[in-house]
Parts: sequence; structure tokens; C-alpha cells
Amino acid sequence: MCGIVGYVGPRQASGVLIGGLTRLEYRGYDSAGIAIMSHTGLEVVRRFGKLVNLASAIGETPVPGTIGIGHTRWATHGRPSEENAHPHIDCTGRIAVVHNGIIENYMDLREELSATGHMLRSETDTEVVAHLVESYYDGDLTAAVSRAIKRLDGSYALGIVHLDHPETLVAARKDSPLIIGIGEGENVVASDIPAVLEYTREVLVLHDDEVATVHADSVHVQALDGTDVSDPEMMHVEWDLDAAEKGGYEDFMFKEIFEQPKAIRETLRGRMCEGGDIQLSELDMAPEQVALINRVFIIACGTSFHAGMVAKTLIEGWARIPVEVEVSSEFRYSDPIVDDDTLVVAITQSGETADTLAGVREARDRGAKVIAITNVVGSRVTRESDGVIYTHAGPEIGVAATKTFTAQIAALYVLALKLAQAKGTVQQERIEHLWSELSRMPDLVETILEDLDGLKECADEYVGANSSLFLGRGIGVPIAMEGALKLKEISYIHAEAYPAGEMKHGPIALITEEVPVVVIATQGHTYEKVVSNIQEVRARGAQVIAVATHGDDDIRRHAEHVLYVPATTESLSAIPATIPLQLLSYYIAKARGCNVDQPRNLAKSVTVE
Ligand code: F6R
Repeated sequence: MCGIVGYVGPRQASGVLIGGLTRLEYRGYDSAGIAIMSHTGLEVVRRFGKLVNLASAIGETPVPGTIGIGHTRWATHGRPSEENAHPHIDCTGRIAVVHNGIIENYMDLREELSATGHMLRSETDTEVVAHLVESYYDGDLTAAVSRAIKRLDGSYALGIVHLDHPETLVAARKDSPLIIGIGEGENVVASDIPAVLEYTREVLVLHDDEVATVHADSVHVQALDGTDVSDPEMMHVEWDLDAAEKGGYEDFMFKEIFEQPKAIRETLRGRMCEGGDIQLSELDMAPEQVALINRVFIIACGTSFHAGMVAKTLIEGWARIPVEVEVSSEFRYSDPIVDDDTLVVAITQSGETADTLAGVREARDRGAKVIAITNVVGSRVTRESDGVIYTHAGPEIGVAATKTFTAQIAALYVLALKLAQAKGTVQQERIEHLWSELSRMPDLVETILEDLDGLKECADEYVGANSSLFLGRGIGVPIAMEGALKLKEISYIHAEAYPAGEMKHGPIALITEEVPVVVIATQGHTYEKVVSNIQEVRARGAQVIAVATHGDDDIRRHAEHVLYVPATTESLSAIPATIPLQLLSYYIAKARGCNVDQPRNLAKSVTVE
């Protein structure tokens, strides 16, 4: 996720900005830049790559000045490059803007601004903000920013300076965090607390649709309609730097589990047009071309492979196209039956997994069109595929995939709905119903995350387990597989996943009182069958942990522990059912003293075969 730092005060701003951005480095970025109001004008310095490149450029040619804005960019629109790095400036070079978030209607705004003579120089969504502020500016910077942001659809945290106001920084936010560290005669705007801790522990938390006018000795907060916010939220920060980097959470993994509502929301953002069309221009295919697709091949590894298995159920169920899901390392050597009527979907959060990249090349050599689903703009898979659908989960630092998994599923829901719409296999009314259910997903996940008590208790009971089984049916199978993978990789407890109906064909021999069995038993067309499978394992002494739907009181008779999730359509149940399994693994691993962020023997991107 991008980092923002802004400074107004007596110090040299460049030092504060570089220092603050360094504190946000852990979030990951691909380029960085600053804009300083100096006596010669507005100086903008940007560099591709690490902060050290920016710091050495400033070291060689210092940029004096005591007010400025800085940014580390995690690319979302436009490749990682110096031209796309922030800050972005308007036509006059007097206004500079840094931005976190996604502006959904930036294409429309670009067209509108270009038509009125504005010169846009980058590929980013951010640049439109600088030009909008320019077009609305009539001497009052805060008013111009307020007018500009009323035109934006999407999410933003913004820091803006204008040469006409050499002592002012304007900050605003919607759905993207922004705080202001209140110092003595100085103020530091930042996207996250670590950037301000060197200067102050008193923090003003800006809320959605609030605009702050920041001077060295004052901060004035307004609502978008210009009315004063007389009691902005203040907080005193007790955390040390390490805790602050993790947003007060104990580990990155835990933080990232809690970031899932946002990751899903951002991934779904802008995907439904007003007329009811699913928006997926990345597919770059006319409905007639989609109609020709007679097979979908999904290639991926690990957790991404499980997202692919969820997608198989969706695409086959909705678009009625046969789907094969293959582990990338097998696909590449399997002489796959792939031709130019095959759509290959490569899922990889890092975009760098060697086996998946090799699979992409293999598929394209055979004439298939390849669409990548990844979380990293500019990663190798984006350069080697015909189209890219981005998940907008932000950088994932914990090695075990959590928020990137649920964001992948969200992106795959969109893809499956798009294919169904193009093929005409699902009625428009149903598509709109599924979409409205999908839009509720971030809120559903939030409600699960609000009540963790039962989960902790459940985890405490199984801390000493050596082996476990995960069962599910239908869409519950990949979720069981993902639950088992999470548990084994972070707690080192052996965990196997099976389709529940397969139990009696072998794995049932493993059942003892010491082997907990986790069962995905959410409501669906095979629910009764799953309950029968639970009875089979319980008859052999198993302790059952069931993931079930709120309101299903009956399931309590069949399980030692029930982890409830909110009700949703069966086909959309994959995301809610995943969350308690991530948390269960997390709590068990923590109680066993494991390093959940960096499990042994694992790497975040597997760039070797
Ligand atoms: C598990 C995990 C791995 C990755 C796998 C593929 O928590 O993170 O199983 O899912 O290595 O990685 P990507 O998605 O980057 O291709």
C-alpha cells in the first residue's frame, strides 16, 4: 500500500519526509517522491525503486524548504516508473498531489480534463486530482480541494500543496487512512502512525469526507460542505514503533486478516456498471469471442490454487464452461490440451511464481489467451499475460496468504459473473442479485472479525494436536484445503483435507480422539450429506469443529465446537467460511509459540522451480 507523509513546521521538510517514508517502508512500494515548496518554486523529485535512490538524489541536490509532501507508491494504475511516481502536478506546476487509494472514474475525468486543455503526463488515476484542483482554484485551496474531491468516485487519502499558499498543506480522505501528528509548532500528515512517532504521540484521526487545512501551529478540519468539524477525533498513541507498523496488531498476519474487508471492497470496486453490466475490460474480449471459449484452464500454486478451485465451481455453475484447475508445476510438464479456444487464468498473488510463469508461457505457445490475476502491479506475470485482473489487497507481508486469497476469490467471482453474462447463461436478474450479495461480503467479513471469543477457546483446546483433518463438499472442498494448508504452514500440525464423501474410502482409518476434524458445514445443497459425514467421524471418536451458518442451532448437537459465519448464497460462501479457519490456525500457531509471519522453510515468492 502506498505511504503518504506531509510536513509543515520549522524543520527542513525533506529530512522529515524521507524519515517518515522510511518508517512506512515495511508496507512495500516501487517508487518514491517528494514535493517541497522552496524559495525558487515547487520542487518535485521522484525516483523509481527504493527510497535510497530518492535520498541520494536529494543528497546530491538538496531541496530546501519547510513544507512538503512525500509518497511511496505501490502501483495500482500505471506501471511502476518514475513518471508514474507521486507527487503529481497540475499544468501550471504550482499544485502537487500525493494520493493513496483508487479513483474509479479517473478515465472519465481524464477525458473531461483533456478536452478542456489539461495536459496529463502520467498513466495514473492520481494525476486527475491535481488538474481538478487547478480547474476549481480561485484563491481558496481548501475550497478547491473540496470541490475536486466531490467529483471523485472511489477511495482516497490526499496531501496537496499549492505555491500560492506557502504555509499550508491540505489533507483529505475517504476509505483510505490519513492521520495528522500534532507537534509543537509543527504538524505531520501521514497515512500511518509510524511516520509521525518521532515527532509526536498526539494524533488527529481524519474521518471520511473531512478536509484538513494544516499549518505549522494549527489544524482546521471541515466537512465537504465547508462546515467546521469542531471536535475531530484525537488519540494518544502508546505503541512503540514495532507495534505501530503492525497497526497495533501483534503480527502482520493478524493485521492482514483484519484488512480483508477493505481488500475485498477495493477488489470489487467499480466492477458493476449502472446498467447492470459487469465491468471487466481487462478481459478485452467481445461477447462473441467469449461465446467461443469452450474450456477454461486455471493454473496456480498453493493458496492461489485453492482460489482456482473455488473459481471452477463458479465458472462451471454460472457460465457452464468446463474448467480444469491444475497446479502450475504439473501443468507445465503435462502436455496440456490447450488451444486458441481455451482461456487460461493464471492466479498468483506475487506475480513472480516460477512455475506459474512457466505455465503462462506454455499456454501462450499453444495459442491460448492468458489472463493473470495478481496483487502486484508490474510483476512478471503482468508482462507475460494477455490481460491482468488486479486484486487490490495492498502488500501482504505475512508469508502465509490471507487477504490476497479472499481478494483473489472476489476477483474470480467478478470473472465468473462476467463470463456468465457474456454467455447469457444466467439471467440478468440473478446476476444483479448475486452482485448485491457479493457487495455485502466486506460487511459479512467484518461481523466475523468482531466476535473472536469462541475461536480462541476452540483453538486453546487443540494446541497439542499432532494431526488434523479438514472436510467439506462442493465449494467447501477448496476451503477445507485452504484451512488445512494454513494450519500446517504456520502451526506445523499435520493437516489433511478431503472431500467429506471420500472419508470412508481410506482417511477414516486415521480418526482417533486425538485427531480434530474441521468440517465446512455451511448451508447448501449438500448440507445433510455433510452432517451424515460428521456423524460417521464422531462415531469413531472424532472431535468435530464445524464451520456453520448463523441460525443453524441443530449443528451444535453434532459438533464439539461451532464457528458461525453469516448466511449468504451457497456459491458465495467461500469467503466467509475461510475467515474462521485463518483465525483458528493463527490462534493455534500463536499458542504453540510459532512465528506466524515467517513460518520455517517458506518464502513469500517462490521464484525458483
Ligand atoms: C500459502 C502461500 C503459498 C502461495 C504459493 C503461490 O499461504 O502463500 O501457498 O499461495 O506459493 O504463490 P503466488 O500466489 O504468489 O503464486
